[in-house]
Amino acid sequence: MICLENVNKSYRMGKNFLHVLHDVSLQVERGEFVSILGASGSGKSTLMNIIGCMDTLDTGRYTLDGISVEQSEPDVLADIRNKKIGFIFQKYHLIPKYSVLQNVMLPLLIRGTDRKSAQEKAEEILELVGLQQRKIQKPNELSGGQQQRVAIARALITRPAVLLADEPTGALDSKTGQDILSLFGALNRQGNTIIQITHDSNVAKAGSRILTLKDGVLSP
Ligand SMILES: Nc1ncnc2c1ncn2[C@@H]1O[C@H](COP(=O)(O)OP(=O)(O)OP(=O)(O)O)[C@@H](O)[C@H]1O
Ligand SMILES: [Mg+2]
Repeated sequence: MICLENVNKSYRMGKNFLHVLHDVSLQVERGEFVSILGASGSGKSTLMNIIGCMDTLDTGRYTLDGISVEQSEPDVLADIRNKKIGFIFQKYHLIPKYSVLQNVMLPLLIRGTDRKSAQEKAEEILELVGLQQRKIQKPNELSGGQQQRVAIARALITRPAVLLADEPTGALDSKTGQDILSLFGALNRQGNTIIQITHDSNVAKAGSRILTLKDGVLSP
């Protein structure tokens, strides 16, 4: 599903380069739930941006669902990102003026799906995350955990090859965070491939495999 081979990434800092990822290799099979654990500044978001096709690598190879990502042009990358990846962020990133239902439908509407089938799918997915009763509410009328479940529903609605979560429980209290991790576990048992990035070893334990990123070096 995901195969990174010897990926290097640096950022330019004036005259110098900051080498952030060092020969990172990572293989994730379809249906896995992988946690990437690392301290602040270890390169987690940099790695996530590369896996999510939001940034390019300097050297190395990246294959996602059979597509050679490192050879793709920016517009092709945007397309891969839309079709293959479901993003979940610490801060949910929901659209405040839209209802729960509209937020979840949006990725399908952007793709040109007709409104009726988009709504049917959104209702199905909201049921899956336990929020069918909340569909006409606005995000600010929901708790943090509920908002994160809306974000998860929105990420799932396009049936992405992989769900990519950057500190998905970072804004939640520990009980609500556990609920979200249980939901990930359930989604994973239904066959969803999940990669989550975290600095919290308790959160990382929700995954079936934990990899550690330290100063840009990834190890089992
Ligand atoms: N666009 C950029 N330009 C220059 N340096 C960057 C850029 N993005 C990240 N860095 C640097 O790369 C290193 C890794 O950053 P990254 O955001 O990947 O860390 P992180 O593990 O996600 O940290 P955190 O847990 O604090 O979010 C840091 O030293 C950061 O300052
Ligand atoms: Mg980060």
